[in-house]
Amino acid sequence: PSMLRSAVSRCSQLSRRGYATNPVPERKVVVLGAAGGIGQPLSLLMKLNPLVSSLSLYDIAGTPGVAAAVSHINTRSEVVGYQGEEQLGKALEGADIVIIPAGVPRKPGMTRDDLFNINAGIVKGLCSAIAKYCPHALVNMISNPVNSTVPIAAEVFKKAGTYDERRLFGVTTLDVVRAKTFYAGKAKVPVAEVNVPVVGGHAGITILPLFSQATPQANLDHDLIQALTKRTQDGGTEVVEAKAGKGSATLSMAYAGAIFADACLKSLNGVPDVVECSYVQSSVTDLPFFASKVRLGKNGWDEVLGLGTLSDFGNQGLENLKGELQSSIEKGIKFANQ
Ligand code: NAI
Repeated sequence: PSMLRSAVSRCSQLSRRGYATNPVPERKVVVLGAAGGIGQPLSLLMKLNPLVSSLSLYDIAGTPGVAAAVSHINTRSEVVGYQGEEQLGKALEGADIVIIPAGVPRKPGMTRDDLFNINAGIVKGLCSAIAKYCPHALVNMISNPVNSTVPIAAEVFKKAGTYDERRLFGVTTLDVVRAKTFYAGKAKVPVAEVNVPVVGGHAGITILPLFSQATPQANLDHDLIQALTKRTQDGGTEVVEAKAGKGSATLSMAYAGAIFADACLKSLNGVPDVVECSYVQSSVTDLPFFASKVRLGKNGWDEVLGLGTLSDFGNQGLENLKGELQSSIEKGIKFANQ
């Protein structure tokens, strides 16, 4: 037995040393709205991510059950559920990344802007708590209308004196995910190899997929590009209608949210050249917030990349979206300063 003990102890010393030379940093990820349609599968996917050491699941109701179920999965992170506003501070403390899918989703016939009145208040409250309990966390905003909720978050953080534009992201990854899927189907190229930048914002015509820059290249004709653009812009509505009143895109959104959070985790851990599309404070156009490719770094985004060469169709789409995006931004700023 003593030989066995010393062999075991040698093994654990070796594995400890192995860890010491190549440590995976401790990272706390918080999901706000974790018991919802997006929140639950997103919590599951974050539990599968080996870069997460602590997973904090917060909602106004229902989190103990979600946390208990997710916590039984035998992966690295420790899971804790928090319920109700009095536990919000504890849920947020020490966070590296806060993902926000809290709020109400669309029903058939609603636009994302119809959600404004309810979700704007929810986001304002949650961002005030972020400013207080984890002002250095990266914020991944999923709650709609993203075109307005991101400017609301920025205003709340400015007022609290904690605003750093590099740490605030509107999650537009689902638009990219859809554009890739739809493009691959028409271009007959393997979907896993496809890249399509999607710029602008995250609602209707403000979603501007740049299929002229898609790779692998395929010579799709103008009508097809127009149809792909429309389908990407209406992708959310397609799901809302198919669900017929039972919610919006939850599963593909959870996937997209997990992809974006993973990109943030990698870049926080020092992986270079992680590039994702996101809706951020921007000077790429004359609009104060705009989605485009951004290069991520150790403290949020390092660089907002330009739009590259646009086709005539892209240029026209860009001009067409500016009015709506500008007014959604102004609406958010006005609400936050009421
Ligand atoms: P859901 O209604 O199923 O879940 C929302 C969750 O938020 C609920 O569990 C609710 O209890 C919780 N919640 C409400 N107030 C809260 C508060 N003050 N603090 C914490 N949690 C709170 O809705 P679903 O389908 O999960 O959608 C959530 C949001 O995500 C909606 O605003 C929806 O429009 C948006 N969305 C965004 C997409 C994007 O691409 N960015 C795609 C799809 C949806």
